[in-house]
Amino acid sequence: MGQFLGFLKDISSAKSTSQEIFDLLDTKPDISSESTHGSQLTDKEPSGISFDDVYFRYPQRRDLAVLNGLTFNIKPGSTVGIVGQSGCGKSTVISLIERFYSPDSGNISINAMSIGGYNINSLRSAIGLVTQEPKSKLFPATIRQNILLGIPEAKEISDDILVQACKEANILKFIQSLPEGFNTLCGVRGSMLSGGQRQRIALARAIVRRAQILLLDEATAALDVESEKSVQDGLDNLTYKPTIISIAHRLNTIRDSDAIVVMDQGRVVEQGTHQQLIEIRGRYFELVQQQQLTTV
Ligand SMILES: Nc1ncnc2c1ncn2[C@@H]1O[C@H](COP(=O)(O)OP(=O)(O)OP(=O)(O)O)[C@@H](O)[C@H]1O
Ligand SMILES: [Mg+2]
Repeated sequence: MGQFLGFLKDISSAKSTSQEIFDLLDTKPDISSESTHGSQLTDKEPSGISFDDVYFRYPQRRDLAVLNGLTFNIKPGSTVGIVGQSGCGKSTVISLIERFYSPDSGNISINAMSIGGYNINSLRSAIGLVTQEPKSKLFPATIRQNILLGIPEAKEISDDILVQACKEANILKFIQSLPEGFNTLCGVRGSMLSGGQRQRIALARAIVRRAQILLLDEATAALDVESEKSVQDGLDNLTYKPTIISIAHRLNTIRDSDAIVVMDQGRVVEQGTHQQLIEIRGRYFELVQQQQLTTV
């Protein structure tokens, strides 16, 4: 009896905790990834993306207006850079394209159809996302398993396709130089790899799926100039033409984009090519000047 009573506290806390877990499991998300509704986003063609007067506040912080009438248009197969001060809403743009949230008003469309109309899984499979620190998205498994992770018919992916994707992501030589090659273990959170290598594995993961939309959120921000260049070279050598949105603090990263969108407080304040934006001597020009000062 004495021994049993010692467990009483654990039993009651286990009871309340398990209730919380069951509540969590029963939660019905507003945007369910299990939904079978909606049309399929055919992933053969590059996709055009447009934001039309989008307003958005995070459900957890209704007092903060994050996007305030955001409007821009991205041509299929083009590369667009998004720049702007910290907190202006750049990463939010990506969360909305992925449909992690729905906008409060306005419309986001892909290939001229509102993204709400697409089947959520088909939408997300068409998107490859590479963030600043892909650590949390690498699992203690082999390089091959990490790259093919989550592809429903992963077994059908031939070695040729895997090798090709790694070549395009500029990581093949490195993988082949390892004694175990594709069977090398990445370690917990990719600890066996350098930042640049993790970044390129994340990129290979997107490329092997032929993701028609690549979203890069500060993908190369934590890398030195040389590793950044090797990721960039990878992107330039893709054998297909995805639509790329690249968010970068370092302006050099997005300098050669087809278009650059400058955001401020959830709005677009300027857009054009690097050259055009330099010529109008506005916000972008200011940012360029600031960075030249800070890097000298
Ligand atoms: N999950 C969230 N819940 C509540 N507020 C958020 C959430 N995520 C971001 N915000 C707020 O929304 C605003 C825009 O954030 P966002 O992450 O889009 O900025 P950003 O332009 O990507 O900034 P950075 O350059 O620092 O990455 C910020 O003020 C931020 O505090
Ligand atoms: Mg961000």
